Parts: sequence; C-alpha cells; structure tokens
Amino acid sequence: MGQHLQAIYDTRVAEGLLRPDPAQRAALVRLESLREMLEVNPKPRASLLARFFKPPEPTGKQGIYLWGGVGRGKSMLMDLFFQHAPTPQKRRVHFHAFMQEVQSALHVARKTGVEDAIKPVAEGIARNLRLLCFDEMQITDIADAMIVGRLFEKLFAAGVIIVTTSNRHPKDLYKDGLNRQLFLPFIKLIEDRLEVDQLDAMTDYRQDRLAGTQVYFTPLGAEATRAIDAVWRDLTGGQEEVLCLEVKGREVKLPRYWAGMARASFWDLCGQPLGPADYLALVGAVKLLVLEGIPRLDATKFNEAKRFVTLIDALYEGHVRLIASAEETPERLYLEGAGSFEFERTASRLREMQGAAWGEGRDALS
Ligand SMILES: Nc1ncnc2c1ncn2[C@@H]1O[C@H](COP(=O)(O)OP(=O)(O)O)[C@@H](O)[C@H]1O
Ligand SMILES: [Mg+2]
Repeated sequence: MGQHLQAIYDTRVAEGLLRPDPAQRAALVRLESLREMLEVNPKPRASLLARFFKPPEPTGKQGIYLWGGVGRGKSMLMDLFFQHAPTPQKRRVHFHAFMQEVQSALHVARKTGVEDAIKPVAEGIARNLRLLCFDEMQITDIADAMIVGRLFEKLFAAGVIIVTTSNRHPKDLYKDGLNRQLFLPFIKLIEDRLEVDQLDAMTDYRQDRLAGTQVYFTPLGAEATRAIDAVWRDLTGGQEEVLCLEVKGREVKLPRYWAGMARASFWDLCGQPLGPADYLALVGAVKLLVLEGIPRLDATKFNEAKRFVTLIDALYEGHVRLIASAEETPERLYLEGAGSFEFERTASRLREMQGAAWGEGRDALS
C-alpha cells in the first residue's frame, strides 16, 4: 500500500514546505480515491480482461477536472498525485504541448488516406497508457476545439484515466469560440466522465511566494544569477520541461518551463527574429517569466531594443509576472539610439511590474 496523499501533504506542511490549506486538503480526498483505485487496478481496462473488471468508480467517473484561480495549487496537487500514482503507465504533459502533438500526428495519419484520422491517433496515445495528466487545459484554437470531443471519447473508451487542471470551469472552455456549438459535446463529455472539482484555496500562493521577494536584479553577475536560480528553484521545486509553442506554423521553444512559468535569457527572446505574434503566444502560455541578462542597450542593439519593447508591452498587457536580471536599472537601460525616448514607457512599465500587487487579477482578464 502506498502512502496516502493526505499524509504526504501533511508531512510537507510539517516540514514547512507548504502552508496548510483546507481546500487543498479536501481536493486531495478525491485524488487519493483515484490513487487507491489505481493501486487495485493499475492496468488499462481496454485489455482483453476489460469486461471482467468493475468500472473504475461506482460513479463511472474516469478522472478529475480540477479547476480554480491561478496560484491556488492545482498543478502542485496534480503533481503530488502523479508522482505517487501507482502505475508505470502514466504520463504528465502540458495540455498545449499535447494538442500540438495530436495535431501533427493527425496530419501524418491523414496523409495515409485513412478515413477517420482521430482513431489511429487516439489508439497510439492510449497504447500502454493508464493515466494521463494534463496541466492547464484550455482551448483557444478552433482546430483543437473541433477534435477534442472525439479524441477524449476514444481515450475514455480505451480506459485511460484523465486528471487535468484548468483555470476555468468546463462550461467556460472555448468561451466565445468560433462554431462553439460544435464544441458543446466535449463539455458534456468532460462533465459526465470527470469529477469536476473546484479548488477554492485560500490565496494565490505564487503571488505570496513572490511578495516581498526582489524581482529585478542588477547588475549582472554571479550574484544576480545565484539569486535568480534560488527564486526559480523555489517556484518550480526544481522541475522543468520543454514547452513548444506553435506560432503561425513555426515552432517557438521554451526550453525551461514549468507550470505556467518560463525562464529564458534576453538573447533567447530578443536576440532572435521573434515578433509580436511570438510574444503573444508566450503571454498566452505563461503567468510568470524569468528573463535573464538584459544588457545595456544602445544604437548598435536597435533591433534587440525594439523587440524588448514589444516583449515588455505584451507581458504588461497580459499581466504576466516578470522576474529579471539586467545590467542597469530600467531607466538606464536604453539611453541613446532610435526610440530611446519611447523607451521611457517601457522603463516605467518595468518599474510598475516590480510592484507587489503586479499580476494579481490576471485570471479575471484572461
Ligand atoms: N499550500 C501551499 N503552501 C505554500 N506554497 C504553495 C501551496 N500551494 C501551492 N504552493 C506554491 O504556489 C505556487 C503556485 O502553485 P501552483 O500549483 O503552480 O498553482 P496553480 O497551478 O493553481 O496556478 C507553486 O510554487 C506552489 O508550489
Ligand atoms: Mg498550474
């Protein structure tokens, strides 16, 4: 028997790693039943013996949809569950990355002239898979909206257990999206097959963790790097994954990503031919960006400066939290060169984004 998730949670609280939160602990009760069910029944039901097994839960539910505001601990709880889920046939993936994978698999399948491309793609995903955990389910793309219904139907039919986090109730997914009526069956499927659970935790823990922490480090050097390393480790718990964003058919890679947070260097984001569409995609995918190594900008770095302005505008409009290291204070970053006058606005935004309350209420806006 594995250890109960509540006990693991309590240990982390006792160790001072987490603050006790009744709503989080309550959410663990359902996750724990799912964990116990997996312990008894770790193989996919779609095996030959499928019909001899009881349905996973008396309710016929096949997983959990955990939703709530940002920073409430959804990803943390799901990760805790995932880490202790007693099956080797498990996979945790960012929803956005998963859908990109699905779209390219569909593309390949269609080329073979198969009639229903979703079928082989879903079978491929479900093969040897018992548990699929998605972080941050959200649907904004019409191509995704039009296929998720049938895709999930097939995953459920194959006996895959699905646990997902989301900032929205299922009813609010793909809100105001094109052809939304065609999307409604997916909402019904989610509500039928998943336990929809709201995480109404006490506070935005991400914001709390940052409250009072320095978020702009200058000058550059070993000290700034060390400080940023420490903040990043605290926020991610030392975990990272690669997130690929698809922008107009191109791929923009965020090599260091975790749970709505990304870490990149100034040169990664402003030293390459990226534009507003790329930055908007970034803003859509993260709530917090760690941007390292902003250099002093001058006329010789005109293009970099221009991109930097665009990036900061996008982050600002999207209420993304920014943690940065820079050679200079915001006001002294770009003193000469075309557009240095307009840079004043960027500097002022950089200042404002250092404020303690910055980034709050992002949920209401998105
Ligand atoms: N009870 C808690 N006490 C302290 N920190 C917490 C607690 N719950 C979550 N956190 C931390 O707060 C941050 C945000 O949590 P996260 O799970 O990413 O939120 P969400 O996915 O809901 O946006 C993470 O760094 C996480 O480890
Ligand atoms: Mg999250």
